[in-house]
Order: sequence, then structure tokens, then C-alpha cells
Amino acid sequence: MKVFHHKSELSDHINLLKGDGKSLGFVPTMGALHEGHLALVKAGLSTNDFVVVSIFVNPTQFDNQQDLVKYPRTLDDDVALLKTLSESTIMVYAPTVEDLYGDKVLSESFNFGGLEHEMEGAFRAGHFDGVGTVVKRLFEAVKPDNAYFGEKDFQQLQIIKKLVSSYSIPVEVIGCPIHRAPDGLAMSSRNTRLTKEHREAAPFIYKTLKSAKTKFGTKSAKTVSEWVVKQFKKQSLLKLEYFIIADTETLKPIKRKSTKKTYRAFIAVYAGDIRLIDNIALN
Ligand code: PAF
Repeated sequence: MKVFHHKSELSDHINLLKGDGKSLGFVPTMGALHEGHLALVKAGLSTNDFVVVSIFVNPTQFDNQQDLVKYPRTLDDDVALLKTLSESTIMVYAPTVEDLYGDKVLSESFNFGGLEHEMEGAFRAGHFDGVGTVVKRLFEAVKPDNAYFGEKDFQQLQIIKKLVSSYSIPVEVIGCPIHRAPDGLAMSSRNTRLTKEHREAAPFIYKTLKSAKTKFGTKSAKTVSEWVVKQFKKQSLLKLEYFIIADTETLKPIKRKSTKKTYRAFIAVYAGDIRLIDNIALN
């Protein structure tokens, strides 16, 4: 498996493949790969000749320095896991900070039409400027035909679609369903950092989302939200940061239910000092 650490080498190789008329899928990741990432890579392999997986813990999207320092970095294991899918049609791009940022590790400032101010944007200052900066640079380096993002980060997915349309980047952005552990916990690289107790408590997040979805069929968003807040008050190991029912397109919190719109419930929860997010389609 080819592993590139410098975008110049990656570009040279990609130009050769493109010259041969090969199609390219792209799965951007921060590493610590799990089944959820593999599902994205498999989706990429099913419709492209080659898939590039980037592995880069992007400093500019962390609002919490401790989270950045403690984020798992497991490149050798990640490469070994990807090899179980294919050695010849997957390439890894694992750049250094310098390769992507030069000597100025700074975010660009983006206007994503308001999407960036909701939920994760409101609770994690500068997060989406960091995501936008790195994904734009990764798209420039990889020049993929198709790029795959998980719906666990649904807000990120909408923002990437906006980034691509605003900058006319010639890539198809494809959202893929959330991959869950058998007990329902959404797969995340952060799950490996949960204590045994917090890992056991965490499936409550998805269980509550599913009940919220059922309740939303007959009850108002306000009633459902209040019910969720009450459920988390009874959980000593989980701390609810937000539960928001929002319009799927604008991500603005729902005001009045309309049968013409689709909604999703979004949640962020602390399990100890690990922050977990999840979401569910409601209608
Ligand atoms: O979803 C992630 O892992 C990251 O936000 C991404 C898209 C790789 C950008 O660093």
C-alpha cells in the first residue's frame, strides 16, 4: 500500500492515475480508523478505481487543546486495517502539519450561509473554519471525483456540500449512513478513550434518540426536548450538552412542525471528558 506524507508526491502519483483515466474516491479521516471509516472506504471502492484515505489530526478544528493532544494517533494500525480491504487500490495520505499548513497553522474564515453558527458551531468556537480549511486543502491535493463523509457528523456533511458549491470544487460529496456498534453507540475514534463505565453508559444516547423519534410522531418538539433533558438528568455518567431538533436543510432549530419539511434530532453528550455526538432522522 502506498503511503504518502507529502502532497507533491501524492499529486505526482494522482496525476499519473488521472492521465490513465482512473476515477478517484476520497475518504478524509483523522485516523484511529474503525468499521465506520471502513464502510466509507468500501463505498468509495465500489464506484471508483482508487480510493485515497487521508489520515491527519487537524489542529485548527479543535477548540479544546487537551482533546487535540489526547486524540488517538495510530497510523500503523490504520494502514494495517486498510490493507484488509485492498493493498493495491487504496492509498494513504498522512501529511505532516507543515505539509498542509506551511509555517502558519491558521484557519481561513468561511461563510457557510449560517450552517456554521448552529449546534457544533455554537458550542465549538472556530471548529468549522478549521474543518473547511483542511478539507479545502485536502480536496486541492487529492482532486477526487467523489468524497465520502459519514452522517454522524451530519452538520459537517452539510457544510462540506456548501463549501464545494461555494468554491465550485469539482467533486461529488456523498453522505453515508451512521455506523453503529451492536449496542447502538455511533462509531467514533473517540470511543476508544471511554472508560469501561462510560462505554457501558454511552448506548443510552442512541436509545434516547430512538425514543425521541417515536415521541416526535405525536408530540411537539418542545415536549420531546424537555423529555430528553429529563432522561439525561437521571444519568450520573452522562452529561447532556445539547439536544436540538432542527430542519435538515438549514439546520435551524424547529419553530413549528411542518409536514413539508424534514427534521433531524442532534445531540452532544459528555461521557466523562469525552464528547460524543449523534443524530437521527425524525421524518
Ligand atoms: O470528520 C473528520 O474526521 C474530520 O472532521 C475531517 C473531515 C477529516 C477533517 O479533519
